[in-house]
Amino acid sequence: MKTIEIGGVKLGPDRMPVICAPITAGSIVEIMHHAEKIADSPADIVEFRADWLDDTGFLNSNTVDAALRTIRNILPGRPVLFTLRTMKEGGKADVRDDEYVEIAEAAADSGYIDAIDLEFSRECVSSGLLPSLMRSKDIRTVLSFHDFTRTPSADEIIAHMNEMASCGADVIKTAVMPQSDSDLLSVLTASEQLKRTCETPFILISMSGQGVLSRVCGGQFGSVLTFASAGRTSAPGQLDADTTDMMLRALYRASRPPQKKFKMELTGRGNIVLGGFMGTGKSSSAEKIALYADFKPVEMDQIIEEKAGMTIPEIFSELGEKAFRDMETKLCRELSEESGLVISTGGGTLLRQENVDALKKNGVVFLLEAEPETVLARLEKSSVKRPKLEGHMNRGYISWLMKQRYDAYTSAADAVIYVDDLTPGGTAVRILSAAGLIPD
Ligand code: S3P
Repeated sequence: MKTIEIGGVKLGPDRMPVICAPITAGSIVEIMHHAEKIADSPADIVEFRADWLDDTGFLNSNTVDAALRTIRNILPGRPVLFTLRTMKEGGKADVRDDEYVEIAEAAADSGYIDAIDLEFSRECVSSGLLPSLMRSKDIRTVLSFHDFTRTPSADEIIAHMNEMASCGADVIKTAVMPQSDSDLLSVLTASEQLKRTCETPFILISMSGQGVLSRVCGGQFGSVLTFASAGRTSAPGQLDADTTDMMLRALYRASRPPQKKFKMELTGRGNIVLGGFMGTGKSSSAEKIALYADFKPVEMDQIIEEKAGMTIPEIFSELGEKAFRDMETKLCRELSEESGLVISTGGGTLLRQENVDALKKNGVVFLLEAEPETVLARLEKSSVKRPKLEGHMNRGYISWLMKQRYDAYTSAADAVIYVDDLTPGGTAVRILSAAGLIPD
């Protein structure tokens, strides 16, 4: 299966499924309320269910544009999937084919959407007309099929999914209703086969309480996205986004390989670099490393504050984030010329490749990783102000920001230390033993 991107979010094999939270609201004011709830959730993508506007009589090109602009303003970092779910497939829209095409075009031309859901049962979709029109506008297509009455056999699901894939879809989606536990198994069986045979990333859901397991364990069987609510649910069986995120993280934690025992020789008197999310204990572990071994602790944030004569929140608000990031880059270059340091980076330092390259010139990067709830508990006790979390000091937002950073962090890391159960002293000992500086 290939990996595709929707607005920078990757969907594909061997990753945690993406969480998509739907906005189901019939007016702009309600849309605002719903979007604000999603802002503090771990949802990677937001789905705008425009059919809810049809329910209140407000569906037209202008309201679609205004609604999407509102969503973009409230949720700047989250890609938008546009959906006009028709009554036949469990939604609220009652539109002809020409109206369906008109609304889809208005959404695409708004410039605010990244992907669009297109119902395969519509002639304008299965003919390939609308998918190719969307592709020409650089919008990803999710071809979908819903059956709210029954679950077809695994073979039927697979055959239908392959037909949708052959239409040139970026993602294919099927959601069906189970009547028995074996219907849930049919969905998982179809997933397992598609995981091995289908090139196109897919989403397969068994709806209602009876199928709820598919929303949580679907990823293990190849499904790349799961819908979860922040506020109102949009389909039977949906769990809330925070619960889904916690369950997904627990599953992926259990299935990740055990922490590797690694050994690395620090070249000469190279530097130890500690990276990772806010609240993972980079500074306090650096202090302990300095206490146990002959390394000088360097706290990047503190040096930047001293040099600028301003606090970090002041730098962010008065000079802007880019100015702060440039100061970090300059400091990384300076520190790479020194030796025998244990460098505590800021939570965003490893996100710039040039910083990583500089720090690695004469250092080994240890990534400290913790769960969002650990980070939240630690940050709530800290007096340090974090502008990146201002107004969003909650688990959902922390998990979302962590996921945004995950790929950059892991590609920068020479080694990863899971710190949920470690004190700063324990983290220091792990690092020093990994670096061959104290015996195991
Ligand atoms: C930041 C983390 C902070 C500090 C700044 C930005 C980030 O460092 O550099 O507020 O983008 O994660 P800590 O990780 O030490 O909190």
